[in-house]
Amino acid sequence: MGRQGSGAGRWPLSARPIATCLAAALLLSGCTEPPQADSPPVATERGAQLFKERCAPCHPDGGNVLNPKKTLHGGVLADNGITTPAGIVARMRAPGPGMTRFDQAAIPDADARLIAEYILATYR
Ligand code: HEC
Repeated sequence: MGRQGSGAGRWPLSARPIATCLAAALLLSGCTEPPQADSPPVATERGAQLFKERCAPCHPDGGNVLNPKKTLHGGVLADNGITTPAGIVARMRAPGPGMTRFDQAAIPDADARLIAEYILATYR
């Protein structure tokens, strides 16, 4: 109650910056739909199916039957420099020792991307 002298005249002035901020925040959140590359990976039915067919023989449950240091679990992938779907697709195109190479004809980019997202979303 100590501020009763400061009156109604103060409010519009001090409230304006807040209102401006709110408006800006609303505008921004409307304008910054996350671009495809930054949206969280999604495990699709098709991604799961393709993974099962093409990758699971060597990577059951995201493991690695040939090289236990190169599993598909998020932390391990990150330690090995792979943090994005594109990074996983790159590995399919140019695998290391012991892994089958999957080129564009074997697994087209769109499917490769689904597999990569499935891995990142599923094996954390
Ligand atoms: C014939 C067995 C085999 C198949 C099939 C296979 N991989 Fe691999 N994968 C490996 C081996 C062995 C490695 C370790 C060598 C390397 O780093 O490439 C590996 C490594 C990887 C890595 C790097 C893992 C890390 O922690 O560094 C990724 C990512 C990967 N595979 C993805 C896939 C995907 C996606 C598929 C299916 C499209 C697949 N692999 C199919 C054997 C296989």
